[in-house]
Amino acid sequence: MDYKKILDEIYLEAKVYKGQGELARYIPELALVDPLKYGIHLSTVAGEDYSLGDSKERFSIQSISKVLSLAQVLPLLGETLWERIDVEPSGNPFNSIVQLEYENGIPRNPFLNAGALVMADILISRFDDPMESFLSFVRELSGNSTIEYDKKVAASEIATGYLNASLINMMKSYGNILNDVDKVLEFYCHQCSIAMSCEDLAHAFMAFADEGCLYKSDSRVLKKSQVKRINALMQTCGFYDEAGEFSYRVGLPGKSGVGGGIVAVHPKCYSIAVWSPKLNPKGNSVLGMKTLELLTTKTGTSIF
Ligand code: DON
Repeated sequence: MDYKKILDEIYLEAKVYKGQGELARYIPELALVDPLKYGIHLSTVAGEDYSLGDSKERFSIQSISKVLSLAQVLPLLGETLWERIDVEPSGNPFNSIVQLEYENGIPRNPFLNAGALVMADILISRFDDPMESFLSFVRELSGNSTIEYDKKVAASEIATGYLNASLINMMKSYGNILNDVDKVLEFYCHQCSIAMSCEDLAHAFMAFADEGCLYKSDSRVLKKSQVKRINALMQTCGFYDEAGEFSYRVGLPGKSGVGGGIVAVHPKCYSIAVWSPKLNPKGNSVLGMKTLELLTTKTGTSIF
């Protein structure tokens, strides 16, 4: 497969969508990002790397971090995790509160804000220094020891995250949050703030593309059966109320974030990260989705 030629083609073709969409203004710091940034990085399981545009520039990974926290939590708790979080698509926005009351404080899936808050609560219960443990895990997955939290983005979200505060208080009232709600919110906002490049993300997500093995290494961080479950959740829940659309247009397990990043994997083949900050009304990068649609169409490499 000539990924270089195909990605060059896509980069030119998709650029016309650069103007479409809006920045994630509800987190004030994210509204300051250059809306015209566009980067792509594809890594293959064979160890090849293809980079285009702003692929080495770091941006706030936001909800993409939820896949990484699931990868840390699932081996710790195993199947008991699903006593506190379900594995069903919600059909609702990532920050919706409506189902949470009907369903007694059990989030529909780990990628909703409510689900990720429960995973943050679990990591706080497990580790003396959860911020340090999570960051070390992300650095290990990506093979980059310089990855950091973006303190400005985290502070900006902590100051304005009223909806997340309501989600966590609702869950606390149902007994599904064990720690102090402010402590969990602080950790969650830091986890979302982490700054990574497309290259870092493509390398980190190789664990999901390559059956739990780290990029260019024999060490395994996840069992095959855990990777199967995480990829299934990305496929069905990674794009919230647009999970069907992403599956239909792209046909890969993937995860988006309101920082404009999208990562997708083709199991046993490649992982790819795209960054373009302008979002559609469902909170997913317009250009990111278009890029991935063109990739699987031109290469014939969707999982379907
Ligand atoms: O909690 C929030 O709203 C953000 N920190 C993350 C949301 C997000 O990235 C949703 N994905 N598209």
